[in-house]
Amino acid sequence: MTERRASWAAAVFAAVTLVLIALLATERATAQNADADPARIDQGKHTYAENCSHCHGFNMVNSGAVVPDLRRFSGDKALFFTTVKNGRNNRMPPWGDLLSDDQIEGLWAYISSQRKP
Ligand code: HEC
Repeated sequence: MTERRASWAAAVFAAVTLVLIALLATERATAQNADADPARIDQGKHTYAENCSHCHGFNMVNSGAVVPDLRRFSGDKALFFTTVKNGRNNRMPPWGDLLSDDQIEGLWAYISSQRKP
């Protein structure tokens, strides 16, 4: 009897885990689609042109020798947010007080759309 109950519990646990994995996968897909939203990318393109292009290059085109080529930035969105908000090494200025999270989301969408492998 107890053994039966245990295998039931295992089956239920497995089912719940599968559902959770499926939910997580869907959420990921939705988040990625949000990054690819053309309106978002366009918004980011404008924010970039106004605030970032004089250092990181017009349309992100730069050699990457002095200032990083953002088209080569990793897919780490959390790192992108902290870097943009706090700046880096006193060379990259902090934007936390100047740009809203929404604007930084737009920047992320734009940069993601231009990413080079
Ligand atoms: C005054 C010039 C300047 C401006 C303006 C500027 N950056 Fe930077 N940025 C830099 C420099 C220099 C670095 C490299 C810092 C270091 O690591 O020493 C950098 C680094 C970065 C990095 C990290 C890159 C990497 O490969 O690790 C990101 C992301 C970034 N900038 C995004 C932005 C965004 C988005 C904007 C516009 C909101 C912006 N930057 C505006 C100069 C600038």
